[in-house]
Amino acid sequence: MKIKLTTSLVAGALLCATTWAQAQQPAAAGDPKEAHKKIAMCEGCHGIPGYKTAYPEVYHVPMLGGQSAAYISNALHAYKAGQRKHPSMRGIAASLSDKDIADLAAYYSTTTGAHK
Ligand code: HEC
Repeated sequence: MKIKLTTSLVAGALLCATTWAQAQQPAAAGDPKEAHKKIAMCEGCHGIPGYKTAYPEVYHVPMLGGQSAAYISNALHAYKAGQRKHPSMRGIAASLSDKDIADLAAYYSTTTGAHK
C-alpha cells in the first residue's frame, strides 16, 4: 500500500512537471526555419516599413520582430480563440495550426523583423 501510494505520487508529480514545462514554454517546439514558408502571409502587413496596413485603412500594425516567442504565441492563440477581436488577425490566426503558431513565434522572436 505504501509503495503504491508513493508510485502514484511520483507519477502525479511527473505529470505536473511535464504540464508545467509545456505551459511555460509554448514555443519550445517552434522551428524558425519552418516559419519561412508561412511568413509570406504576415509580411504584407507586419513586414512593411512603418508597420501600417495599406488596406482597408491605414492602421498601425504592431512590430513582431524581437517580441518574445511566448508573447507572440499567446497573442495568436488569443485571436484564434476570439479573445482578441481584430478581424484580420482573427481570420489569419484561425487558419494557423498550433505548430504554425509555434514556428512563427520562434521565427519572430529571433529576428528584428527587418528585411534582409
Ligand atoms: C491584413 C493585415 C495583417 C496580416 C496579413 C497579419 N497581421 Fe498580424 N496584425 C495585424 C494588425 C492590424 C494587428 C493589430 C491588431 C489589434 O489591434 O489587435 C496585428 C496583430 C498581430 C499580433 C499581436 C501583436 C501585439 O503586439 O499585440 C501578432 C502576434 C500578429 N499580428 C501576428 C501575425 C502573424 C504571425 C501573421 C501571419 C501568419 C499576421 N499577423 C498576419 C495585421 C495583420
